[in-house]
Amino acid sequence: WDIKVSSSGGNATSGHQYGFLHEDINNSGDGGIYAELIRNRAFQYSEAYPVSLDGWHSVNGAELKLNRLELPLSDALPVSVNVAADTCDSGPVGMANDGYWGMDVKVQKYTGSFWVHGSYEGNFTASLQSALTDEVFGSVEIVSQSVADDWVEHEFELIPETDAPNSNNTFAITFDPEGTADGSLDFNLISLFPPTYKDRKNGLRVDLAQVLADLHPTIIRLPGGNMLEGLDNRTWWDWKDTLGPLRYRPGFQGVWGYQQTHGLGLLEYLQWAEDFDLEIVVGVFAGLALNGDITPPEKLQPFIDDALDQIEFIIGPPDSEWGSVRASLGHPEPFRLLYVEIGNEDWLAGGEAGWQSYMDYRLPMFQAAVNEAYPQLQVIASGSTHEGLEIPEGVLGDYHPYRTPDELVEEFDKFDNDVAHIIGEVAATHPNGGIGWDGELFTFPWWIGTVGEAISMIGYERNADRIPATFYAPILRNMNRWQWAMTMVQHAADPAMTTRSTSWYLWELIAAHIMTHTLPAEGDIGPLYYVAGKNEDKGSFIWKGAAYNTTDSAPIPVSLSFEGVEEGTKALLTMLTNAEEDKDPYAYNDPHLGNNAVERTTFVLTANEEGAFEFDMPELSIAILDTDLN
Ligand code: AHR
Repeated sequence: WDIKVSSSGGNATSGHQYGFLHEDINNSGDGGIYAELIRNRAFQYSEAYPVSLDGWHSVNGAELKLNRLELPLSDALPVSVNVAADTCDSGPVGMANDGYWGMDVKVQKYTGSFWVHGSYEGNFTASLQSALTDEVFGSVEIVSQSVADDWVEHEFELIPETDAPNSNNTFAITFDPEGTADGSLDFNLISLFPPTYKDRKNGLRVDLAQVLADLHPTIIRLPGGNMLEGLDNRTWWDWKDTLGPLRYRPGFQGVWGYQQTHGLGLLEYLQWAEDFDLEIVVGVFAGLALNGDITPPEKLQPFIDDALDQIEFIIGPPDSEWGSVRASLGHPEPFRLLYVEIGNEDWLAGGEAGWQSYMDYRLPMFQAAVNEAYPQLQVIASGSTHEGLEIPEGVLGDYHPYRTPDELVEEFDKFDNDVAHIIGEVAATHPNGGIGWDGELFTFPWWIGTVGEAISMIGYERNADRIPATFYAPILRNMNRWQWAMTMVQHAADPAMTTRSTSWYLWELIAAHIMTHTLPAEGDIGPLYYVAGKNEDKGSFIWKGAAYNTTDSAPIPVSLSFEGVEEGTKALLTMLTNAEEDKDPYAYNDPHLGNNAVERTTFVLTANEEGAFEFDMPELSIAILDTDLN
């Protein structure tokens, strides 16, 4: 297989092709990357999810009762729990929380807080303990500041003396009822954080943030996905509700089957992007909800104003109305923002009428307003030419291929003759030859699906002038409660469950070799698919290829030369292959087994007398060759 790469021609790339979408699905926010350990910390509720004591248990026979006190902690958090002893001389009472299906307990600093209402002379005890035995791994005494007629916050730090052997642990707060007026106290907003990524207050879970940072992403799309849209036009992800002290964040019902805290709010998303050095595509609510609620033209302006406020919050100067709110929250510097996406999948939720309303007035009205206020920002429409959108001048489309491996291979040249789009969501979701969306998604990213993804990504990168960015979605899945199986990483309370899927290895590799320019390559295409280019900053040549040799398992011999590369030049070849002995194309990484179905091998190759690098592409393999050896 002869491939000859020219030294000129091709296109400049954006430099930030590879990223991911994050929305709270699969408890990927609460119970996922948002590091809060306490589940149902503030008894939040919504129409869809009535207030409850989910996650809480009484300690020493205390009665736990949800109340709406005359003096609530805040309007946003009006429900609190009253913890009452049976009798005042029965010893300390309290409540314990199960966490997001367990808690990882280690000898490290946990930072906690809780609000109390009611007079109390005495100490609180906060402890981390086994859910199975009486073992207490660490506890701390907190002197009460609590008073009769107000809410008082108590903060503490807790360093366990020993690591827990597993994650089946709980967090408890107890108090001595004898020190209270009537044997009871009211509690709300009980919070506990382990150390967070880059030590951010209210920050991200370290191991999950790290596994995503290790993907070398350069761009993030947020806050959804369907989460942005909400179930109806009253319950979309309202960014204004996600700002400021947790005490003032009401939470919302989300769209994925569970109440959300709003703890991972807009500022936290922006800080996440900043900590990872990511460009941002921010989605703004565009007046269409998942139930098909379409906002008529005369009612759209408040949503447009809201989107402009949101952008101002992100990039406005610190003396602007919303820039000053950001500054008051500790971030006077504007964040970086390149892209604003108007809505999410507006071709889907509202049927034809929703899509028509998007094309007729919603997109044009939002586009005009954003262009006028922020001409430097690139507007993205939430659909593509493939859903029939005639993409207006100056706007990028957004295309979401959730596909079978075979279909992803067909993506390779999809954008050769198309206008510019982002690939806002992509993943292999269904096996070849199955019933597609009439059935479930496949169980985990699997090897042939990953190879299919590689070919679609290579195809998108070949068209880097038209596809400035590609995003995997969704990225995280809590193995205890999930709605969408296909995710880059799976996790649970126990960090040992954090699992890099087969696709993780692909995305990590492909993003680690950034081209600044593509270069024309001559050679046959299929079943070997490839893109070539260079990195001008490093002075290197790069080739990315994947073999989809499904009918003939014989390796494909490759002879690859770059114009101007001479005999003796060295290159690093990194190869991903199926690690299973039987080469099962359905092989996947199972969090319960801790296996790895991906073998990653590196070779240093030397160009032969014709200046060509020679290597074999085994059955269903992915490879990257880079003349930069670092
Ligand atoms: O990524 C999961 C969902 O798929 C997203 O929320 C939505 O945009 C798409 O349909």
